[in-house]
Amino acid sequence: MEPVPFMNLSRQYESIKEEVKSAMDDVMKITAFSGGPFVQKFEESFAEWCDTKYASAVSNGTEALHMAMVAMDIKEGDEVILPANTFIATVWGPMYMKATPVFVDCDPDTWEIDVTKVEAKITSKTKAIIGVHLYGQICDMDALIAIGEKHGIPVLEDSAQAHGATYKGRKAGSLGDMACFSFYPGKNLGTFGEGGGVTTNNKTYYDRIQLVKNHASEEKYFHQELGFNCRMGGLEGAVLSIKLKHIDKWNNRRRDIAKAYQTQVTNDKVKMQAQPEYSNSVYHLFVVTVDDRAHFMNYLKENGVFSGMHYPISCHLQKACAYLGHKEGDFPNAEYLAAHCVSLPMFPELRDDELAKTIKVINAY
Ligand SMILES: Cc1ncc(COP(=O)(O)O)c(C=O)c1O
Repeated sequence: MEPVPFMNLSRQYESIKEEVKSAMDDVMKITAFSGGPFVQKFEESFAEWCDTKYASAVSNGTEALHMAMVAMDIKEGDEVILPANTFIATVWGPMYMKATPVFVDCDPDTWEIDVTKVEAKITSKTKAIIGVHLYGQICDMDALIAIGEKHGIPVLEDSAQAHGATYKGRKAGSLGDMACFSFYPGKNLGTFGEGGGVTTNNKTYYDRIQLVKNHASEEKYFHQELGFNCRMGGLEGAVLSIKLKHIDKWNNRRRDIAKAYQTQVTNDKVKMQAQPEYSNSVYHLFVVTVDDRAHFMNYLKENGVFSGMHYPISCHLQKACAYLGHKEGDFPNAEYLAAHCVSLPMFPELRDDELAKTIKVINAY
């Protein structure tokens, strides 16, 4: 048997090839390459799917975070609270505005932002709190929103890994003041190229993003403020509209794979992310921790199973964040996760025989 891939995007392409080709052809026929009707159609259907009033499509998830910061008027010297264990793009958001990222450690079991440590970080300079739905599991948003409301601070969801996840039955993207999504190819909803989006029920935020993402220009060649060019391309929008029709089925397959790992991996050297009652994850990644990661990953590889690491260095210890003056030991749970995490094969097209082999190999470790 061929080795089990960590991820395989071509299988998904094969399953929707004809639909996608025809949608791409429609874009090319009317040369709607930048923004345009295909992007607008995707924005409308994505907002509806997320149960929000508005969705603004942008060029990638990092720009979604950047545009959300612009919409909230984050400025130099402001502080933005966020978890230390996330993909670095969450941190770029405040850094692009010359605001200070203020890190919070994660919970040792759910690996989501430890909501009991957030309030102590609030100062008169705090202008936003970002909750990251890590690996597809929604963080404790009600707790973050309660803190936000008490102090008059907006709460942003980084939903880049959580398209379709629910929290107490409500969809990722509809919980905070705004939410940022990535449509990077490997994401649960990924385009062919780059893409991102911001969902919100707040018209002021939405209007501002629609304006600034397009050179801050409502009327051609008239620019109302500092603008950016981070529109979504028409081909990306068209692909996303096709994929949106399939995502619920793909997310359910991810949940079935996760259930198999949770119930059939019996090796107690392997620890899994705790799944709180309130959260129904979409398992963008299936991450476990082991004592000796290098040994385990090498063992998996030698036995024909590929794995990954998300993420091997906590953000507070990244060179790019050295100016913040953090040191090892500042966020022990995030550091533990960074040093011990291993991502197992997880994508909807993972075959049953590949899943069975992966579980067997893990149990024999
Ligand atoms: C948590 C998180 N935030 C933000 C991003 C940034 O998205 P993108 O790669 O589309 O810029 C990603 C994805 O890479 C992510 O995983």
